[in-house]
Amino acid sequence: NALKIAVIAGDGIGKEVMPEGLRVLRAAAERFGLDITFDEFPFSSWDYYEQHGRMLPVDWKDQIGGHDAIYFGAVGWPEKIADHVSLWGSLLLFRREFDQYVNLRPVRLMPGVPSPLAGRKPGDIDFYVVRENTEGEYSSIGGRMFEGTEREVVVQETVMSRVGVDRILRFAFELARRTPKKHLTSATKSNGIAITMPYWDERVEAMAKHYPDVKWDKYHIDILTAHFVLNPQRFNVVVASNLFGDILSDLGPACTGTIGIAPSGNINPAGDFPSLFEPVHGSAPDIAGQGIANPVGQIWAGAMMLDHLGHAQAAAAIVRAIEEVLAQKPLRTRDLGGLADTETCGAAIADAVARS
Ligand code: NAI
Ligand code: MG
Repeated sequence: NALKIAVIAGDGIGKEVMPEGLRVLRAAAERFGLDITFDEFPFSSWDYYEQHGRMLPVDWKDQIGGHDAIYFGAVGWPEKIADHVSLWGSLLLFRREFDQYVNLRPVRLMPGVPSPLAGRKPGDIDFYVVRENTEGEYSSIGGRMFEGTEREVVVQETVMSRVGVDRILRFAFELARRTPKKHLTSATKSNGIAITMPYWDERVEAMAKHYPDVKWDKYHIDILTAHFVLNPQRFNVVVASNLFGDILSDLGPACTGTIGIAPSGNINPAGDFPSLFEPVHGSAPDIAGQGIANPVGQIWAGAMMLDHLGHAQAAAAIVRAIEEVLAQKPLRTRDLGGLADTETCGAAIADAVARS
């Protein structure tokens, strides 16, 4: 079964780390006998905007909507174009139009990456954050009254639909079931947010009945953030609403060191539209053009993409290759105190995959 991947490198270091991501995916395809076609698209970048006056062509949905997945670099070139124009005109449209309702971020302490948490070593931190990506606290329902007067009032509603809550919980329980620890943590705040969060808890309890093999617990978001830092070994799969998940999915990777290695999946588990896999970092204008960006976030995102597409073995081989290479200082990039440039690091990971 041939796979068709839409490739969008975007701006800045997106254009430098993407070739390394593709190099490693090609090595994995060769090693594991996968038939993958990569179609590269120039849009969702400042270059495209400069030529066409917009971030995407009118028929972008037809161009990439039929692919099995989207492999994305980074978008944004603030010196030339405002971030709300570039991001809302591309990446955020993909997420919304393709109903990518899961944001999945692995949080894993890798060898060769100093953790900001004292005394932690690889193995101590290894979990997933599953964030609801379409509703919850980030609704546009609300308004402003008596603007500019003493009586000024603003209101913004949280929206939780049964379909919306259940589908993110189902994804998280399914993921937990596939992990060795079979454990799930739910982020809540039902002691303070007295309508939506008790509903969330209720749906977690109902969903858990379908997964008797998964052990689960819940924490209020305030103490949960403390445990991320103090007891990260407690976690396996952590599921959260849009706002809580936003916070946790930045805090988690921050506990494991550098932004240069963290990957992210924007997933539509139903598969009616493609999912999108990208590094967490942006286009890094401050280091773009120097060939020194860390390609690991892009490469790891490629592993997540293969895993999502049903090629778990190839995905695991890439993650092992990343670990093997990060353990060697000459092969690490400078943000990790190493000596390698982007290409040297990427080629070493591709080699390790080929030898696996
Ligand atoms: P950034 O993630 O691009 O950079 C933050 C800092 O981390 C910089 O000092 C950069 O040099 C460093 N860094 C990032 N990735 C690195 C890598 N792979 N290797 C080594 N160092 C790395 O965030 P920033 O500067 O806030 O945003 C720059 C542009 O990227 C903006 O236009 C922003 O909107 C956009 N952006 C796009 C994202 C996306 O496409 N998903 C995500 C975040 C930001
Ligand atoms: Mg965020």
